[in-house]
Amino acid sequence: MSQLLINQLALREFRGIRISQPINLSKFTVLIGRNNSGKTAILEALSLLPPTAIIPTLNETRIDLVASLHGGKSSLVYGYSGKATINYKLYQREVHLELTAYGAIDITIGGEKVPSEQYLQALSRAMKVDEESLPDLILFIPNDTRIMRELQRNLTSEREWSKVVKSGANTTTIKELVNPTVNDKFTEALIEREDIRLRKELPGGKVLYVKIADVGDGIERVLTTALWLESRKPKLVLWDDIEASAHPGLIEALIRWLANKPWQIVVATHSIDVLDRIVAVQPKDTKIIALQKTPDDEVKAKTLTLDQVEDMLNKNIDLRKITDLL
Ligand SMILES: Nc1ncnc2c1ncn2[C@@H]1O[C@H](COP(=O)(O)OP(=O)(O)OP(=O)(O)O)[C@@H](O)[C@H]1O
Ligand SMILES: [Mg+2]
Repeated sequence: MSQLLINQLALREFRGIRISQPINLSKFTVLIGRNNSGKTAILEALSLLPPTAIIPTLNETRIDLVASLHGGKSSLVYGYSGKATINYKLYQREVHLELTAYGAIDITIGGEKVPSEQYLQALSRAMKVDEESLPDLILFIPNDTRIMRELQRNLTSEREWSKVVKSGANTTTIKELVNPTVNDKFTEALIEREDIRLRKELPGGKVLYVKIADVGDGIERVLTTALWLESRKPKLVLWDDIEASAHPGLIEALIRWLANKPWQIVVATHSIDVLDRIVAVQPKDTKIIALQKTPDDEVKAKTLTLDQVEDMLNKNIDLRKITDLL
């Protein structure tokens, strides 16, 4: 079995989670649960492991980015005061972060305290990766247009786009994800006048170059992310509300596309189509985790196998609505 970047996560006083049962991750983990059950909080906590900007053009740390999606830095701490703790189990190492409501951070790696100015170096040593590759280690995709546009802006630089072209993603993503799911006939993604555009063939030989920001929200989100993933090759992908704006046809193409990729993936979803397609595609080492928050904000997790989920789907049981799973 391939090595996972993060095996287990445990949280205390992080966002709306007062305490969580340790959550064991797989190669392909799917988080389900009602609104407010802590799905986004778990993805955000996972995203904070590398102490780097998430998007190079954005002068924002990961903490700043998550804070910007909510009510500021204090929103990362339960009840807006005290300390949040995040415990990551990595391969042969544990990293422990403590965050205050003011954004200060305390770090322990393998039981030893690390001064924050040495965190980058210590983490790269603990994880056996170069410091330069830490920013690309984990990609977090929130359900947020600003972040999508920033990813696009980043990809338009000559250096980044040459990585896209080298990976072949400028054509393969169009072929595998876009064309089977829309009625337009696109042939490739390219950069023109500082925008990512899709070359579109019209009947009669006319060609149009459509800006990626102008395609529908579903394709914009999936294609932007896929271009980024293929060129930057993170080790862990955190994709919130993966079904957002996607028709079942696009969901199907996306799950098929993701199933064979090398990275560890954690997605959050409310969609039966996502579960149904995952059951059909059977990505290797998949776990579905149903989350439930108690009235005093303890998050409990119940892990289901693909077979169990398939069985429920076959019996027409809507597992999104089962509140007594736990
Ligand atoms: N700083 C905080 N202190 C206390 N509670 C908080 C804090 N931040 C968030 N919450 C609570 O956390 C919950 C939101 O959690 P989260 O966004 O992870 O849910 P979710 O499962 O992603 O929901 P959705 O399906 O709607 O996206 C809400 O109950 C909210 O009241
Ligand atoms: Mg959410």
